[in-house]
Amino acid sequence: YRSIRVALLGAGSVGSQVARLLLEHGDELTARIGARIELVGIAVRDVDAKRDADLPRELFTTDAPRLILGADIVIELMGGIEPARTLVLQAIASGADVVTGNKALLAAHGAELFAAAEQVGAQLSYEAAVAGAIPIIRPLRESLAGDRIERILGIVNGTTNYILDRMDTTGASLEDALATATELGYAEADPTADIGGYDAAQKATILASLAFHTSVPVESVHREGITGVTAAQVESARRAGYVVKLLAICERLADPESGEAGISVRVYPALVPREHPLAAVRGANNAVFVEASAAGPLMFYGAGAGGVPTASAVLGDLVAIARRHVVGGPGTSESTHADLAVLPIGRITTSY
Ligand code: HSE
Repeated sequence: YRSIRVALLGAGSVGSQVARLLLEHGDELTARIGARIELVGIAVRDVDAKRDADLPRELFTTDAPRLILGADIVIELMGGIEPARTLVLQAIASGADVVTGNKALLAAHGAELFAAAEQVGAQLSYEAAVAGAIPIIRPLRESLAGDRIERILGIVNGTTNYILDRMDTTGASLEDALATATELGYAEADPTADIGGYDAAQKATILASLAFHTSVPVESVHREGITGVTAAQVESARRAGYVVKLLAICERLADPESGEAGISVRVYPALVPREHPLAAVRGANNAVFVEASAAGPLMFYGAGAGGVPTASAVLGDLVAIARRHVVGGPGTSESTHADLAVLPIGRITTSY
């Protein structure tokens, strides 16, 4: 097998799991791709920092620009705008394809990065940037590309969904529920991004841009977090048959004055009827409810946060890109089931 050189930038909760899974499942991925994924290094700020996974020390470096040179694919999971933006642009300029999970970067500089990638024919994939493990970027970009998306209602922040769910089921205050969310590791290092709705607004920007084939500036998103939600409000909503959910709403909307077609993107705590599928989204899970003109309503549901689930989305992007590097390799034709040829088929279990 030839090898595809992969450089990883960042070894936080997602990055460290991506590295671990790449090292542990290397052979399986090789069979699936038709090339060997070689993790050439992991760029971090502090080589000695404590990590969620036990990784070989010799992989770590603090020299990200040097690591990028010579990589075929760069995975950026540092978070934040700089130095991530400069490093992604550098990776693209050096001829690498890029996988990122960086929603803040895409929300603020997506247009610039996509233009840079397009100019040199590089791939820039970002399934992990919205709703963790849930496949939603590729369905919007590919499976639904022939349809017309009318509206997206998303629960795209696990921390706030956990908090609101806990308030709903136990009557806890916002402060107590947030403390539990932090203990469980759902909240970002600075929970303001979660409870202030900034994280959800960044994800809404990305979803709306894809769904409506335009570039939606994050500043144009109406944003309201959950900081004002009280236990009493949650309780009276419950009694009236509703549940409070922080929703990211992206929809086509005519301007009320001019009647001109437009779109509206907003994030705020909304009253969701108990019988709506989104009301059933519990704990730190996420869901994206898509209303498409021909397809009708679709719901994408699952783990929206957490290192291991989000690493799944990163690896999916990596495999998809790596397959394009191998002309005629397994999985390059959508009409074949390449994996069945290389893995023995066991008994199918119907009960768990
Ligand atoms: N803090 C985010 C959340 C992590 O709670 O959803 C995933 O972006």
